[in-house]
Amino acid sequence: MTAAGLWNAGKAVLLRDETDAARLRSLLCHLPMPHLAADLGCGAAHDALVYRAAWPDALIVGLDSDRLAALGWRQGLRGGERFYFVRGDAAWPPLAPHFDVILVRHPDLNRSPKSWIKALRAAAGLLAARGALLVSTYSLSEIERARRWLDAEAALTPLGFDPAALAPVGLSGRDRFALAYRRA
Ligand SMILES: C[S@@+](CC[C@H](N)C(=O)[O-])C[C@H]1O[C@@H](n2cnc3c(N)ncnc32)[C@H](O)[C@@H]1O
Repeated sequence: MTAAGLWNAGKAVLLRDETDAARLRSLLCHLPMPHLAADLGCGAAHDALVYRAAWPDALIVGLDSDRLAALGWRQGLRGGERFYFVRGDAAWPPLAPHFDVILVRHPDLNRSPKSWIKALRAAAGLLAARGALLVSTYSLSEIERARRWLDAEAALTPLGFDPAALAPVGLSGRDRFALAYRRA
């Protein structure tokens, strides 16, 4: 590939990432401004910078069961201080229940439904009063599954937002489908 080709490819990646970031930002702005936030099944902190820009003062905890996620999280501490990684099972999260915001983005719900139904119920229990839970998925079937499970949680009330007011979905499809709830 020529130097110009490489530059264009790099620019395309940046543009793709910026579209994804804009989509995520447009979801986060519907949530309360957290002091303490968690990202369950966080992966390698791909969106740390977006979280940090949206929530400059928040303490953010990422939890993932994958050892490699821990590595990525440490290497990519792009969000700076006040980011913490916990390796654990989101179905049995080793966390205290005081989170203002909990994110569960792109959980592999269809592959591991038993584990994720427990994880989403656990997330509901980790929220502080008036705390918000955001779930996003690539597929409609997964978000509908999450909706069925979470609608049955008595402590949660749907937090409505207008899908038309969100930034467009990027080619990656990240955060294509989303729903949010608030704890009473
Ligand atoms: C498709 S990736 C999504 C990663 C990230 N949330 C994102 O949006 O890029 C799903 C992540 O969930 C993690 N995961 C799957 N089951 C889990 C569980 N029971 N507890 C914690 N993490 C889990 C996987 O290790 C993986 O990092």
